[in-house]
Amino acid sequence: MKQNSLFRKKTVQDILTASEQSQADGHDTLGKHLKVRDLAAFGIAAIIGAGIFSTIGEASSNGGPAVIFLFIFTAIACGFAAFAYAEFASMVPVAGSAYTYSYVAFGEIIAWTIGWALIMEYAIGNITVAISWSDYFTGMLEGVNIHLPQWIQTDYLTAYNGYNEAEALIQGGKNFENLDASLQAAHKAWETAPTIFNFHLIFDLPALFIIVLITWLVYRGMKESRNASNVMVIIKLAIILLVIAVGIFYVDTDNWSPFAPNGVSGILKGVSAVFFAYIGFDAISTTAEECENPQRDLPRGMMWAIIICTILYVIISLILTGLVNYKVLAVGDPLAFVFREIDLKWMSGIIAVSAVIAMASVLLVFQMGQPRIWMSMSRDGLLPKKFSKVHPKYKTPSFATIVVGFVVAVPALFMNLTMVTDLCSIGTLFAFVLVCGGVLILQNRTDIPRGKFRTPYMNGKYVLPFLVAGAIILGFTQYKPELMGFLTNQSELKETKDLIVDLSEKESAQLKESIILVDKAGFSLVGSDLLAYFEQEPKIDLKTSLRGIKSSSKAEIASELDQKTKDRLIHFLEGYDEKGLKLMDSDLEKYFEQGPKISIENALKPIGVSGKRLYNSGFSHFAHKIPTWIFILFTLFITIVTIRKNLSLIPLLGLLSCLYMMSQIELRNWIAFVIWLCIGLVIYFVYSRKNSKLGLKKTSDERQ
Ligand code: ALA
Repeated sequence: MKQNSLFRKKTVQDILTASEQSQADGHDTLGKHLKVRDLAAFGIAAIIGAGIFSTIGEASSNGGPAVIFLFIFTAIACGFAAFAYAEFASMVPVAGSAYTYSYVAFGEIIAWTIGWALIMEYAIGNITVAISWSDYFTGMLEGVNIHLPQWIQTDYLTAYNGYNEAEALIQGGKNFENLDASLQAAHKAWETAPTIFNFHLIFDLPALFIIVLITWLVYRGMKESRNASNVMVIIKLAIILLVIAVGIFYVDTDNWSPFAPNGVSGILKGVSAVFFAYIGFDAISTTAEECENPQRDLPRGMMWAIIICTILYVIISLILTGLVNYKVLAVGDPLAFVFREIDLKWMSGIIAVSAVIAMASVLLVFQMGQPRIWMSMSRDGLLPKKFSKVHPKYKTPSFATIVVGFVVAVPALFMNLTMVTDLCSIGTLFAFVLVCGGVLILQNRTDIPRGKFRTPYMNGKYVLPFLVAGAIILGFTQYKPELMGFLTNQSELKETKDLIVDLSEKESAQLKESIILVDKAGFSLVGSDLLAYFEQEPKIDLKTSLRGIKSSSKAEIASELDQKTKDRLIHFLEGYDEKGLKLMDSDLEKYFEQGPKISIENALKPIGVSGKRLYNSGFSHFAHKIPTWIFILFTLFITIVTIRKNLSLIPLLGLLSCLYMMSQIELRNWIAFVIWLCIGLVIYFVYSRKNSKLGLKKTSDERQ
């Protein structure tokens, strides 16, 4: 291979010698302290975090109890990828994870790209976790009556936007006390913040605090980090087992029926959230250099971590959806929420504490993984030399650790990253795809010395073509309308929020009028409708509307109200709802999200909103399907390659399942991801390519 080729590759020998060379250059080596148990514990530390404490709620509310199938599917996909990680880690037991593996399998430019993409997983992922950690932490402090000022526990943008929205609602006639708690908090933060030249000083101090603390721990040494991580994992597991042990007695199996209320499409809505819950097992591979016996222990550690977490996730999902109706689970703190719902407040307190510990351990592992990847990139000359400096006493990549601390802590202070969960998932999936692809490429190469661990080989051509044929047959029989709609780019109704935002003032007023009419008629109904009304975040809560009516649970109210009380309640609601709807557009949006008496399509058509204003169509509609098209075409292509080249089944399925999950992530995140990769490429051509050891080494070889 030419020395200036973009795809110049490293040999395993190159990598091992570079690691030794770095030591010879005066850089210390990392300490070797990790065994299978520590690795599995690191895995669990990284895996169980914001996913199970937060994003699982939304996924369960879409998929119902059947969300467990998504957990199992994702675990299998991650398991396939783990085989590939393990195979590479045993072949190249150094710290760089997917980055190092791609250097061997695909060449420098892809390795650089993956190293750059991994920043998405580790550093940007940690920004989100730090921000969520801060939310739980301040909630926990509130629980024990410690109130931090609002302006040091939120970010500037959230406060600014929330303040403006709250002000608009107040102008529209709402009382401050009736605003969402988050809007009240934002409003308060903005109003109470000190100002410097009119700039409101608002930042998320707890997020900074936790990052500084974790960075210090990671800097101090692997042994200290390992011990802290092991303790956190024990506490985390104990609390999760407690949730299971207590929750199981309150499960009402009626809540499991129907098991899959929204079918396959409902389950699949949770792909990104559920995948996020598994991210982290791959981080174990960054510690390869610090394992006593990486070839044997890394694969085992990863598999144990995935298996244990899957069992816990499945049981927890069953308990969540068994304690309450799946519909109410779309909250930020589902685990604490269900226990509040069944009146076990002490449990929800314990869960809040455990969430704080669980997320701290996720931060720890990611904060440890990122500097180790940079260290490898620096050893290869792709990043400045300082990044591979190992602390003489603590034996950790000290400079890189501090830089990561800054890179995560500073944005966590100020940023409001709503896209970040998806970005973190897309970066991670990209790495998984390349690692699985790498194993496929190496499959037929005899010139590369292999590690002790090999993914079991099964010939993909006896399985994949049948899976693809099965999917095609299923598509054209069971899901024909959806499939044809996709293939012919049929127009689709726009999202409610886009429709509402797009309305003129006059149209908005007309729409509100027509809803009031429909809703008034709709409310002369029976008890079960009342119950449904209150389960849909209504304009007024049950307690307020039942002032003077003594009753304890919603179900009782629905079934036992006497006719007079019911009439009074209905009368009251009609009045209130009518008033409520005279308010803001955000109320309109909520109205249509709550299974209303009239669909948005039927409400908008009579007031003249139709065609392109109502439906997505044409190229902009098609653009959102590009990731899925890439997946379909690639699947067909790789099926042919598999038949011709006898590709190995496990990495193949890992590759396709991860690519499938990527295709489910929204286009805007793909665009952000591609922009991120482009920035990385600019840096590569300006700095890394010129300084790459591979380039320099080959040049001197050629001169000789
Ligand atoms: N899997 C990690 C979590 O759920 C990222 O927080």
